[in-house]
Amino acid sequence: MFGIAEYTRTIHIAFAVLTIISFTLRGMWMLMDSPLLLSKPARIVPHIIDTLLLFSGIVLVINYTSYHHGYGWLLAKLAAIILYIGTGAIALKYGKTRMIRIIALIISYCLLVIIVSLALTRSITLGY
Ligand code: HEM
Repeated sequence: MFGIAEYTRTIHIAFAVLTIISFTLRGMWMLMDSPLLLSKPARIVPHIIDTLLLFSGIVLVINYTSYHHGYGWLLAKLAAIILYIGTGAIALKYGKTRMIRIIALIISYCLLVIIVSLALTRSITLGY
């Protein structure tokens, strides 16, 4: 049976992919010093994608019960997401120098790897 939770998970994964694409595009525009980074769509569309990602995540949390995996991975994932939002904002907006922005971009990608790994393995030990 394909219930509400499965649909929401599919939607959540779709928005997770979209958010990574939108972050990558803006990261490339930042690296290329492109004016597109400050264009209206580049400032509005990511907020829509991220709001829907957050909303689908909250619906998943409400429906989530797992005695086997528990909530540790979810807390770790949320902590990594908060850090990612911070480093992402430095990379695309607040970083004062190019070097700071590039380092923040690299850290953001490391955090994205951690976030997706936590979501897929539901383990904070990540494979051990
Ligand atoms: C950068 C942001 C995010 C990314 C890349 C991401 C990625 C993913 C992925 C790929 C899965 C699917 C795992 C599977 O195969 O079942 C997942 C599941 C999940 N995500 Fe996210 N997510 C993000 C943000 C959030 C947020 C903000 C929340 C909560 C407010 C959240 C809550 C959940 C929950 C509860 C599940 C497990 C659902 C279940 O299987 O019952 N996620 N996430």
